Amino acid sequence: MNRREFNKGLLATVTSFALIDSLFAYNAFGNNIKPIANHWAIKLNEFCSDLRTETITTTQWQEQISQLYKEIELTEILKFIDFDHLIKGFVYPDLGVNTKSVKFPKLAGLPEKTTFVKKIFGMRKDRAIIPHGHSNMASAHLILKGEMHLRHYEKIRQEEKNLIIKPTIDKIAKLGDNSSISDDKDNVHWFVANTETAFTFDVIMLDLNNKPYVIHNLDIYEKQDLYDGTLRVPILNVEKALKKYGKETHH
Ligand SMILES: [Fe+2]
Repeated sequence: MNRREFNKGLLATVTSFALIDSLFAYNAFGNNIKPIANHWAIKLNEFCSDLRTETITTTQWQEQISQLYKEIELTEILKFIDFDHLIKGFVYPDLGVNTKSVKFPKLAGLPEKTTFVKKIFGMRKDRAIIPHGHSNMASAHLILKGEMHLRHYEKIRQEEKNLIIKPTIDKIAKLGDNSSISDDKDNVHWFVANTETAFTFDVIMLDLNNKPYVIHNLDIYEKQDLYDGTLRVPILNVEKALKKYGKETHH
């Protein structure tokens, strides 16, 4: 073997080692990096960024998050947001709910400041996230603990002091169930805790359409049936709404 042949052979060997090496590297990437890039929090942030840039519609955002939540084990989410720590010393109000901000742990591919607001909402039995509609907002809700009576309504139109709404969902939301609202789908929601305590994880997108968000508390018990599947319900200020709907009384 002359020197040139030796070099050629060496190069071939090196090349195949490099090739094999890169194949392993590829495998390593496939086995280790990919699942992290697929982390639910990264996907969630992606959906929210896409909604912010109007790459997807609000109803697509609602569908994507709902699908995502169906694919993840609830325990994985509870661990990631450190739910046990979040609810230590949680103060449950007598009327309505209390909230606590959620901080995601550091994760490659996840910006430190997410484009969405993330909070847990907690309440005692019979307390409510009082009935309300939204403008220029989208939010998604996952039941982390307990069980809730969940009602949704479509926002058909707004009058000066009323909202015209149409019932869409009336169910018992169980552990791991999720729901969402937007201007386009299931705009009004109302949760009442059915268990000793109940918690939701909320992903909230504010000020969509480059407009400030608005929340309208609704007096659903004062509904007027318009006999076309819709109801006219008065808009209430938050004090009156909390007093009337913050705590369910059983007779
Ligand atoms: Fe809401």
